[in-house]
Order: sequence, then structure tokens, then C-alpha cells
Amino acid sequence: MAGRDGTVVCPGSYDPVTNGHLDIITRSSQAFERVVVAIVNNPVRKGQTLFTAEERRAFIEDATSELPNVEARIFSNLLVEFARELGAKAIVKGLRAISDFEYEFEMAQLNRKLDPGIESIYMIASPQYSFLSSTGVKEMATFGGDVGDLVPGSVAAAMAERLGER
Ligand code: PNS
Repeated sequence: MAGRDGTVVCPGSYDPVTNGHLDIITRSSQAFERVVVAIVNNPVRKGQTLFTAEERRAFIEDATSELPNVEARIFSNLLVEFARELGAKAIVKGLRAISDFEYEFEMAQLNRKLDPGIESIYMIASPQYSFLSSTGVKEMATFGGDVGDLVPGSVAAAMAERLGER
């Protein structure tokens, strides 16, 4: 396909993956040759995760099984190091609103400082997902809200079970 070029990484905590993440991953798979969804093993800024890295990876594998050029991998080192190991030329992330901009600006500059050879590319979230976040979904599910059309079915079921255990 015209415009396809090389490997990119779509990094994140994915605790858990949402339909908004999957929109960015799917669109990336149409624009680039190979997409590695890079799952942060222990997110530094986000504290204890609801799901283990392996659980988060399995949800993504399951939800992207129809996309042959997408794979999900866990990483525990610096994102730019992981990207370099894969031969990726760019990091692709979604941008929902102005509120994301400050954080993503910092991340993009940090990653550029660490490795100027790896580009950061931002895709604007599709409007129907512009309000969606893993944190918001967890909050809704904690109080029994219906998250069925915000996350894959397997994630909704696992969240109900995990949060019910608490
Ligand atoms: O949106 P997220 O889930 O907070 O993003 C995670 C990630 C790894 C994309 C972001 O923290 C980042 O770009 N960090 C750069 C510094 C780094 O590599 N840290 C190691 C993993 S926390």
C-alpha cells in the first residue's frame, strides 16, 4: 500500500486497552508496515496496575487478532531503547484533547532527547473516543457503570470480575 513504511511502536500502559487505543492501533496498521503495541511493564507515573502486564498483553492480542501486521510486546526498559531494538523508526500515540497535549509534549521532548533518531507521531483521536481513557473506564466499572461499548467484551468481563474481588 502506498505510504506504508517500516515498523512503528504504539506504547502505553494499556490498563486496560480501550476502544480508543484500538482505533489508534488499527489506523496505525493501515498506515505502517508493522505495528508493535508496546506495553509498559511497570508504569512509573501510574502506580499499581489493575491488570498484570501479561493480562494487558493478552487483551490486546485478542482484540487485534484480525490485524496481521500488529503484535503486542511487553517492555521494561526505556521506550526509545525498545523501539531501537525493534528497528522502529517512530513512536505513534493518540491525542484526544488539549489536556493530553502538555503530557505528550513532555514525553515527545524527553524521547527526542534520549534518541533524536526516533520520531514521535501523534494521531488525533476519532471524535467518538475523544473522551475515553483507561482511568475513566476503570472508574465507571468500579461503580457498576456499563462500559460494554468502550472496551472489548473480554476486557469488560475481566474488569467486572477483578473490581468485584476488591
Ligand atoms: O500514556 P502512557 O501510558 O503514560 O505512556 C507510557 C510511555 C512509555 C509511552 C511514556 O511514559 C513515555 O513515553 N515515556 C518515556 C520515558 C520512558 O521510556 N520510560 C520508561 C517506561 S515508563
